[in-house]
Amino acid sequence: MSEMTPEIYQPSPAVTANAIVKDYEEMSRFAGENLEQFWASQAEKFFWFSKWQKVLDNANQPFFKWFVGGQTNIVANCLDRHLATWRRNKLALIWEGENGDLRTFSYHALNREVCKFASVLRSMGVKKGDRVTIYMGRVPELPIAMLACAKIGAVHSVVYGGFSIEALQGRIEDSQSNVLITCDGSFMNGKVVELKKIVDEALRRAPTIEHVIVYKRTGQNVAMEAGRDYWYHDLVALPLARSLSNSGCETEIMDAEDPLFMLYTSGTTGKPKAILHTHGGYMVGIGTTLQTVFDIKEEDRWWCAADPGWITGHSYIVYGPLLLGATSFIYEGAPTYPYPNRWWSMVEKYGINILYTAPTAIRGLMRFGEAWPNRHDLSSLRLLGSVGEPINPEAWRWYYRVIGKERCPIMDTWWQTETGMFMITPMPVVDLKPGSATRPFPGVEADVYSEEGKPVAVGEEGYLVLKRPWPAMLRTIYKDPERYVKQYWSKFPGVYFTGDSARKDKDGYFWIIGRVDDVLKVSGYRLGTAEIESAFVSHPDVAEAAAIGLPHEIKGNAIHAYVILKAGATPSEALAEELKAHVANNLGPIAKPEKVTFLTQLPKTRSGKIMRRVLKARAQGIAEGDLSTLEE
Ligand code: PRX
Repeated sequence: MSEMTPEIYQPSPAVTANAIVKDYEEMSRFAGENLEQFWASQAEKFFWFSKWQKVLDNANQPFFKWFVGGQTNIVANCLDRHLATWRRNKLALIWEGENGDLRTFSYHALNREVCKFASVLRSMGVKKGDRVTIYMGRVPELPIAMLACAKIGAVHSVVYGGFSIEALQGRIEDSQSNVLITCDGSFMNGKVVELKKIVDEALRRAPTIEHVIVYKRTGQNVAMEAGRDYWYHDLVALPLARSLSNSGCETEIMDAEDPLFMLYTSGTTGKPKAILHTHGGYMVGIGTTLQTVFDIKEEDRWWCAADPGWITGHSYIVYGPLLLGATSFIYEGAPTYPYPNRWWSMVEKYGINILYTAPTAIRGLMRFGEAWPNRHDLSSLRLLGSVGEPINPEAWRWYYRVIGKERCPIMDTWWQTETGMFMITPMPVVDLKPGSATRPFPGVEADVYSEEGKPVAVGEEGYLVLKRPWPAMLRTIYKDPERYVKQYWSKFPGVYFTGDSARKDKDGYFWIIGRVDDVLKVSGYRLGTAEIESAFVSHPDVAEAAAIGLPHEIKGNAIHAYVILKAGATPSEALAEELKAHVANNLGPIAKPEKVTFLTQLPKTRSGKIMRRVLKARAQGIAEGDLSTLEE
């Protein structure tokens, strides 16, 4: 399906009649003409210890600042302010374990847990500005740990629980964390992932960590190093934690621009970069977008089926819903465990109103057929959402028809770890075209540029750029401001370069095509070709490797690798399997290559850069394009 096909879905009157935003055009016009006033009026909906003096400071571009002089703490808005209202007794979190365990937290209860754990961290000497690494399964203690850090002004660095030793070690080292919070293990697909074992291995090589706090989830035997490792349940039961939580553990007053968290993401080099987000602007950006795009009402139950370890989880599982005083559902495990109806059974059981997930998950569930969702009453659903990669129109239509019963508009939200919040996205009152993320959020100015930095003609492919700052924008790359400038603000001066290619149609709708840099999206996860290649090269038999992404029915892209072996090593099926396992071990199971091909030479430019696009064209049997720089 392309923008040439006039397939348009209008949101149903049942949705538009009660939508919080009635007029997208008017909101966009106002924000476009009064950017600072627009964001200030949103910021006023939040609690500030003291008000900002300046909405946007662009004196030192591209180091933009928002709500300068304002003081707040995102936790004062996520928890503290709700406690004085009736929401104290409202459910903040509903959690279901993969094994069927159920835990619920009212705002009061969640706050108490956060206070206890914040007191534990404080008593360990963690203070404002310190970095804390969190490496856990999808348990309620993960958001609790994040909130506890934020409450005391520490900067959390959540490392996705599916990452392996090297990835964890590198992120600990880069962030120079002293404290690590983890679990004994996590449940995924009926199996135990041995998180603590991975931690022990990583810490042998990353010595900055002084204290490890271990939440007991699976109960398997783990090694505990005396003087370094503590059980979570022991620490929160200490009288100090208890008494502080009773008298109220104080929420640190933060400047709007103080860092809230860093989150590592893959870029074009082998070294993942830590994207830095702040308390003030980030809070205003995600709270505003979540409420207006997903139309969250007081009585709704919201389910963002991502992992808290990714930006989607940070913004729209943990902070966003709590800012709005909403009820958020979290599920621990795999979508198909024990059967492919697991998700649909939980939509029915908990009466989920809004479901937000990724195209890869939709395609994965679609494969099992309609009978599974059709066994369940999905009538509570009002809105659906998609994120992470372009959604193919076939998956869009299935999601719309089989899950949403042609009643629920799909919010296809385009954004990035760096943007923090939705940037190109529909609202429930906007006409939808399957496969298009529609138009920019009010106040966001997106465009498609040619190589020369000029807007391209309607329908033409080019580079997706953002032309005005937004409050939830990244502030820098941790410890590497030069890379921040180079990566995002140098291709086109004064304009943010997204790394994506896109087209804009005659109605101003954006059609995202994919990454144009050396970043791959595999099952919605972001991986750098350089990271994958360096994992290959760390195997003793490998001299050189090149990784590319090729289209895959469910994953979107699958990793294909081309490998040159060292002298003495012999290509074989067994070695190919060994290398796949080696990479999965290094980076985590999501990075497991689909196919390994042995070569004796890689296509390179004369300056020695691997021409991945040539490998890709060859693999797909399509034209190889301009080969004038090829050395071969
Ligand atoms: O290529 C775009 C794709 O995901 C990239 C950002 O990845 P990450 O930082 O991991 O964040 C994912 C969750 C926000 C983008 O550069 N992407 C994200 N959402 C969409 C998308 N591509 C097309 N349509 C989307 N809705």
